[in-house]
Order: sequence, then structure tokens, then C-alpha cells
Amino acid sequence: MPNPNHSREKLNVVVLISGSGSNLQVLIDQMRDHSLPIRISAVISNKADAYGLKRAEAAGISTAVVNNKAYPDRESYDAALQRKIDAYQPQLVVLAGFMRILTPDFVNHFQGRMLNIHPSLLPNYRGLNTHQRAIDDKAKIHGVSVHFVTPELDGGPVIAQSQVAIKENDTAESLASRVQAKEHRLYPLVIGWIALGRLTLNNSELIFDNKTLTKPIIID
Ligand code: GRF
Repeated sequence: MPNPNHSREKLNVVVLISGSGSNLQVLIDQMRDHSLPIRISAVISNKADAYGLKRAEAAGISTAVVNNKAYPDRESYDAALQRKIDAYQPQLVVLAGFMRILTPDFVNHFQGRMLNIHPSLLPNYRGLNTHQRAIDDKAKIHGVSVHFVTPELDGGPVIAQSQVAIKENDTAESLASRVQAKEHRLYPLVIGWIALGRLTLNNSELIFDNKTLTKPIIID
């Protein structure tokens, strides 16, 4: 029996980061051991000192910095970033801790082929400081979501989520580390579904294994 992973071209992915890049590292590791059928053609950061750039260099992946401080406004920055990404002709753009609000033009250009991972159970806690906000609210359950990016901040269709129970003595840091462990499992899983052609966004409808997805898939 032919292995379908061998006959299919690897998905060309560009990853955008601003910081540590622990999610990027998991993608690199799984790309290298062939458990994820992707080819990361570039890692792009808005910050020159992002540690994730070192991770990419160590793996022999092309890197680029498009420094937001060098542009007068969001529109010109996003236009430059878009040109840089397009040069690699990615089939999927993966936001992995890319800490920028994106313009509608930029988002629409990558409509249906840009993913984000957000550390909360969306639609709860869009934006920043999600862990502290969940603790302050005395929430019992927190977690992480992977969604397609639309112009609304953290508002695109949610594909999958993993839940994390909040403990009584949790701090934002202790909670974040358990959420990150879930992130590192969830993000490659969803990217793998896209790479294998199992998941697409059709207008605003998520299609998974030829069926419309009406609610997020929950992964342990
Ligand atoms: C993650 O917590 C992710 O959910 C958020 O940014 C963080 C990135 O972490 N969008 P890392 O740079 O991948 O370690």
C-alpha cells in the first residue's frame, strides 16, 4: 500500500514569531522527524532579538526580520510584511506568538490560510493577559484555542481547543506552563490536518473530513 504521506507534497509554511518560539520548536522537531508533513520555508519576526530566530537558524531554516519600528504606520508595516511572506509562496501562514494586531487588508490577503494559537478558550479572554484574567475571574477551566485568522482580533472560526483545569493556588505563570504543554500538542495536530487536506475554511465555514464543523474539536 502506498503511504499517502509520501505521495503528497509537503505543505509550505511560513511561521511568524515575536518571542521565544517554543511552539515553533515543536513544529521544527515534528517536521524533522517527518511526523508532520510540512516544510517551514521561513521564520519571520518583527523583533531582531526573538529567541525563535535562533531556533530556526539552528535548524537551517531561512529567517527574516521585518522591524515594525522602521515603518511609520500599521498599513505600511503590514504591506512590507506581506511582501516578505509572499516571496516564500506559503500555503499556510502560522502565527506562533506573533504579537501584532493585523490590518484587515493583510488578514484578507491570507484569508483561509493563516492560523493563530491563542491561550484561552475562545471566545473567552480575547487579547492579552489571559491567564491572570481567568484566575481573577475564579474560572475553573481555562485552555488554548487554534483558529483561522479573520479581521476581528482573536475572533476567527475556532478549529480545536484543549482544556486546562485551574488549581486553587495557580499563578499566571504556573497556569501558563500547563497551557503551553497543551499548545505544543494542539498546534501541530491542527497544522497536520491542514497539511493532509482534512481541514479547510470555505468562506466562514470550517470543513473537517468533508463535514461542516459546528463546534470546536476538543483535544485532551
Ligand atoms: C503562546 O502562549 C501562544 O498561545 C501565544 O503566544 C505564546 C507564544 O509562545 N499566541 P512561544 O513563543 O511559542 O513560546
